[in-house]
Amino acid sequence: MTGTVLTTRRVDAYHALTVVAPGIAEHLRPGHFVAVAVGGPRSSMLTRRSFSVHDVKPDYGGTVELVFAVRGPGTSWLAERRARDTLDVVGPLGRPFPLPRDPVNCVLVGGDYGSATLFGLADALQRRGCRVDFVIGAESAERVFGALRARRMGETTTLTTEDGSLGMRGKVTDVLPGVIADVRADVVYACGPMETLRGVTAVAIEFDIPVQVSVEEAMACGFGVCMTCVLPVIGEDGITRMVRACVDGPVFRGERVRFEDVGTIPFDAAGAPGAPSASTSPASAGGGGGPRNVS
Ligand SMILES: Cc1cc2nc3c(=O)[nH]c(=O)nc-3n(C[C@H](O)[C@H](O)[C@H](O)COP(=O)(O)OP(=O)(O)OC[C@H]3O[C@@H](n4cnc5c(N)ncnc54)[C@H](O)[C@@H]3O)c2cc1C
Ligand code: FES
Repeated sequence: MTGTVLTTRRVDAYHALTVVAPGIAEHLRPGHFVAVAVGGPRSSMLTRRSFSVHDVKPDYGGTVELVFAVRGPGTSWLAERRARDTLDVVGPLGRPFPLPRDPVNCVLVGGDYGSATLFGLADALQRRGCRVDFVIGAESAERVFGALRARRMGETTTLTTEDGSLGMRGKVTDVLPGVIADVRADVVYACGPMETLRGVTAVAIEFDIPVQVSVEEAMACGFGVCMTCVLPVIGEDGITRMVRACVDGPVFRGERVRFEDVGTIPFDAAGAPGAPSASTSPASAGGGGGPRNVS
C-alpha cells in the first residue's frame, strides 16, 4: 500500500519512521516484516528493502514504525524521508514468532536494531501470562536499541556492549547462560545479526530449551519469487533443504538452521548435486517439533 509518513526521528545510532498503513497494521503479528520501495518512481533501485516492525499503533487507522540503520543507498534515501512524504510498503510478510500455549518463562535476546522487533513479541507473550526477561546488546551504547522500554517491560533486563560503554562488557551470548539459569527459562527468542543468532542457538542447545530466531538474510522480492534469501534449514525429517527466509521464515527454530553453511548449498541438501533425493517442500522446516542437530 501507499502510506503517508507520519513522523521521523533519530534514536541514537538509528532512524525511526512511522508510516500510516492501516491494512498492514491490522494484520501484523510479532515477527512479520515489511518490504519498502526505495528511491522514488525513477530510481534504479529496483528491489525493495526489508524491515522488521518496531511498533504498531492505532493512530490514523493504524501506523507501523520501522527502526533502521543507514547501510547503503536504500536506507540513506529512507533516512531522508520527512512527514507527509509517501512510501510504497508491502506487508505483513513472512511467518511471525510462534507463541507458547502455556504461560512459560521467555528470554528475549536482541542484537543491534534486532531488539526493536522484540517489544511487540514481549507484549503478546505477557498477555498470555508468560514471564519475559530481556538480554540486549550491541557494539557500543548508541547502538543498543530499546534499553529503557526493556527495563519497563521485562522482569529483568541485561545489557551488554562490546566496548563496555553500557551494561556489561561483552556479547549477549556471554551473559545468556546466567540469565537462562537464573530465570529458569523455558524458551529463547532472538533477533539480530546471524553471528549472534548462531551463538544464542548454541547456548539454548546447551540448556536443551527451544530457541526461535528471526534471521536477516539479504532479500530482493520479499515474497518468495526470486530465491535471493535461501538458506539451509533441516526439516522435521532430518533432511536439509534450501528454504526461503522471506516466506518460510524469517523465524525458524534455531537448531534447525545450519548457520555454518549459510551462504552455501551444503552437498547433502535436497536438490544439491549428488544429494539424496527428497521432496523440496519446505513445509517442515519451520517452527514445529522434530529432531535437533541432524547434519
Ligand atoms: C527480514 C529482514 C528484516 C530486516 N529488518 C531491519 C530493520 O528492522 N532495521 C534495519 O536497519 N535493517 C533491517 N534489515 C536489513 C535491511 O533490509 C538492509 O539494511 C537494507 O536492505 C540495506 O539496503 P541499502 O540499500 O541501504 O544497502 P545495500 O546497498 O543494499 O547494502 C549495503 C550493505 O549491507 C549489506 N546488506 C544488505 N542487506 C543485508 C541484510 N539483510 N543482511 C546483512 N547484510 C545486508 C549488503 O551486502 C551491503 O554490503 C532487515 C532485513 C531483513 C531481510
Ligand atoms: S527474497 Fe525473493 S524469494 Fe525470498
